[in-house]
Amino acid sequence: MRFFFVALLVLGAGRSSAQVASLLPVPQSVRERDSRFVVDSTLRFVITGFRDGRLHRAIDRTISRLEQRTGQPLAHRRDASSGEGAVVVEVVRAGGAVQGVDEDEGYVLDISAGGVALRAETVVGAMRGLETLLQLVSNDSSSFFLPGLTITDAPRFPWRGLLVDASRHFMPVDQIKRTLDGMSMVKLNVLHWHLSDDQGIRVESRRFPKLHLLGSDGLYYTQAQIRDVVAYARDRGIRVVPEFDMPGHSTAWFVGYPQYSAQRAPIAIRREWGGADAIFDPTREATYTFIARFIAEFVPLFPDAYWHIGGDEVEGKHWDSNPRIVAWRKRHGLRDNDALQAHFNKRLSKILAAHGRRMVGWDEVLHPDLPPNTVVQSWRGTQYLADAATRGFSGLLSAPWYLDHIKPAADYYVADPVPLFDGLTAAQQRLILGGEACMWSEYITAESADSRIWPRLGAVAERLWSPREVTDVGSLYNRLDILAGRLEAMGLRVQSHSARLLRKLAPGLDVTPIESLFTAVQPPSFGQSTNGKMMNQRDPLSRLVDAARPDPPGRWMTERLVRRLALNAADTPARDSLAVLFAAWVKLQPSVARLGALSPTLAQALPVNNALARVASIGLEALGYLGTGARPQPGWSEALVTELQQYDKPQETLRVAITAEVRKLVAVAAVNSH
Ligand code: ACM
Repeated sequence: MRFFFVALLVLGAGRSSAQVASLLPVPQSVRERDSRFVVDSTLRFVITGFRDGRLHRAIDRTISRLEQRTGQPLAHRRDASSGEGAVVVEVVRAGGAVQGVDEDEGYVLDISAGGVALRAETVVGAMRGLETLLQLVSNDSSSFFLPGLTITDAPRFPWRGLLVDASRHFMPVDQIKRTLDGMSMVKLNVLHWHLSDDQGIRVESRRFPKLHLLGSDGLYYTQAQIRDVVAYARDRGIRVVPEFDMPGHSTAWFVGYPQYSAQRAPIAIRREWGGADAIFDPTREATYTFIARFIAEFVPLFPDAYWHIGGDEVEGKHWDSNPRIVAWRKRHGLRDNDALQAHFNKRLSKILAAHGRRMVGWDEVLHPDLPPNTVVQSWRGTQYLADAATRGFSGLLSAPWYLDHIKPAADYYVADPVPLFDGLTAAQQRLILGGEACMWSEYITAESADSRIWPRLGAVAERLWSPREVTDVGSLYNRLDILAGRLEAMGLRVQSHSARLLRKLAPGLDVTPIESLFTAVQPPSFGQSTNGKMMNQRDPLSRLVDAARPDPPGRWMTERLVRRLALNAADTPARDSLAVLFAAWVKLQPSVARLGALSPTLAQALPVNNALARVASIGLEALGYLGTGARPQPGWSEALVTELQQYDKPQETLRVAITAEVRKLVAVAAVNSH
């Protein structure tokens, strides 16, 4: 790893040291002043105005985190009397008894030498401000302090979420809580909990116990655990929207209750990934009675006003192959399976409305018969969001934000729920509530989840909170790096998971070369990490690729330096820094090769190790031409660009992360070397 830190020091030289520059998400407005508020053991919090248990707990957590950060005990005091030298928290009211989409999350944070004032309309707003305060803690050689400033802040979008898929791989409560901790740090406010799918239904149903007893492999949340998670989320200003996907993605329901499926053939939990044909029978009253009783059981556990019914990827094969269902559909004048699904959705919407719940569905639910208060979540493409808004539906963006597609943070960052020039009227734009990143769990487990979610989720969190104009990718990467450290400090396994898994895969060996390899090598996109083998739920996901992380640091370092060279081919420091990186990756090759010879798991590193060494040596060749100004042979760049194409692809289970950047560098060298 040593080369990596040397490179980091070189690159980090220009980084602003001001703690303000580390804030993520960037606040709406910051006015800095030339003063500081000292944080020492005399620090007190004073609550004026509204107070409740939720505010007290938020302040207590803040004090604990300040202690962790400063390494000194603080007076755990929340004095009622006002006073100099305190953090004065002034809240007007609790906020919704059930947090709503319209919750006021704004706050004003005023820091001067004499004291700190945090003002918010609601407790949720105060919690957002406390997270900002924690990010602002700075130190010099002798003291800890907060920089003097006034921050006025509020979110751009009211719905800022993360989907966590607990069906394909179960996510235990402590993983969900870690995720909620991270979400609160970046001011996200919706956990979309994907609780049922073909591969498992994850809730304990007392009315229908065969759901969890037969449909979950024993991996489910008890009702007490659900209450605990929802309360934990509420304590952090996060809503929990449950998703019970239907009528498709529903195999697991029918292991215990086959009578509600369109085909009664023996049904087992599905182990394979990808579409399944099992589907609810939408033509029988018994189906709706069953679903209504299920919903009635869980409505008290999920107090949020929204309820996600899924509705995606309904092929209807089992509808088509059941003559009774086809005849019923025709008798009721329903033209096709889309109309039949719309009929099903209307029934669900009514059931939910009776409990005061508003229905959310994936974009396939869009249909002329869809009840108008449905919220449409776009996943197949951004156009479905605009399409829904044009038809008067509220919407959520998810299409560009699939974390399992393993894209760089920069790619997630450029997506916007309301792009400029989207052709929508202002009223239609207001229907777009925000969006959600999605962490589907076919190829992750609770062990790797943190590292696949973070720190990239920070890019989406900022897009949804900060003003549209906040778009500087360089600043984003600096702050994501800081965020990753903060998340680790909170107990998330963002970076540490690699070392943990490598210890498991290579007991007793020095795996430093593999860790260095992981600075420029990453998992490939969804479904590409399998080397052609069909994987399923039984695979333990403890391969080398499962220890690797998306968007590794070497990729952005390379991209940033190549950008500089594209602007100015004579940028010698950029060229030298790139040469250090490339040479280190080339030099790594024999050390990784030695490790790869020691075990079948470590051998998974060999193809990508060779590929990285070759890509890096192509990079060195290009730098050579840039450095000397010598002219390459005709056809040089074309031949290399062709060769580089093969390194865009996964090398068995892992992929080189810097190929695109090296391709750009070859182009820069070809243009500038004559
Ligand atoms: C989905 O990814 N099928 C919503």
